[in-house]
Amino acid sequence: MKVFITYKIPESGINLLKEKFDVDVYEGEKFLTKQEMMERLKDADAVVTQLRDPVDKEFIDAGKKLKIIANYAVGFNNIDVEYAKQKGIYVTNTPDVLTEATADIAWALILAVARKIIPADKFTREGKFEGWKPNLFLGYEIYGKTLGIIGMGRIGKAVARRAMGFGMKIIYHNRKRVEDDYKYNAKYVDLETLLKESDYISINAPLTNETYHLLNKERLSLLKKNAILVNTARGPIIDEKALYELLKDGKIAGAGFDVYENEPEITKGLEKLDNVVLLPHIGSATYETREKMSIMVAENIIDALEGKIPRNLVWKE
Ligand code: GLV
Ligand code: GLV
Repeated sequence: MKVFITYKIPESGINLLKEKFDVDVYEGEKFLTKQEMMERLKDADAVVTQLRDPVDKEFIDAGKKLKIIANYAVGFNNIDVEYAKQKGIYVTNTPDVLTEATADIAWALILAVARKIIPADKFTREGKFEGWKPNLFLGYEIYGKTLGIIGMGRIGKAVARRAMGFGMKIIYHNRKRVEDDYKYNAKYVDLETLLKESDYISINAPLTNETYHLLNKERLSLLKKNAILVNTARGPIIDEKALYELLKDGKIAGAGFDVYENEPEITKGLEKLDNVVLLPHIGSATYETREKMSIMVAENIIDALEGKIPRNLVWKE
């Protein structure tokens, strides 16, 4: 049986797969086009996809023998899951193993934006530091402030756990109330209340039809003037153009981006603002996590090709 991997991932998972199957790994740096991927998919029994691969009906139909699509990501909004399911093809993701790394990046963004870490570093490198000054790079306090978490899943909870150490008041919004929210000292509120009351807001929801542009222009206008918004989930949850306008006009204090509405494109002008931090989608990018993700996709494929239900199926069987 053959496994096609659309972009190279850590060796550990590939080696597991090689023990059992023929493995076709694309080794290049430049991304394959969809056509090229579909060509290599023709005789594959399994495929490892990346979150930027457009796994739509056409792509899925190209895999004539396909039994499983193993996404190398926790998010799977790049895949037409309904269609795959209808065709009896499993879809799996990599939950849990990237929760802590992603929560760390949300916090790295909160801290970097609030305390102006990036401009302060640049200033120091440029030799502008002349000695301590009372007014040098004043930022925003975090201790005792209110953190609003949109999407209280695994990652949202990990962000909340960190916030407890910062003595924050934690509120959250989610499709439904989370049963163990008391463990995080987190209070369930409606979205409007969250936007009006939070000093910091972290987005940790999946991208779905319901969350697309959840933060549209109207909702963004509810944010406090000192609000700092960070997004480590998916770009299209926010109307990026509307957020840019707010940031440019100084209507909120700042924002941290790990994801963008039209990745890899970034709303023009954002790069000129110094109250934003712009990261290239590195939430899960630690050596440890990427190793675990690699093993996880391999295990899912081994499950599926050995006739079992894969352990990280994105729907419940
Ligand atoms: C990263 O964004 C992921 O979904 O794993
Ligand atoms: C994603 O893993 C989440 O549940 O937050």
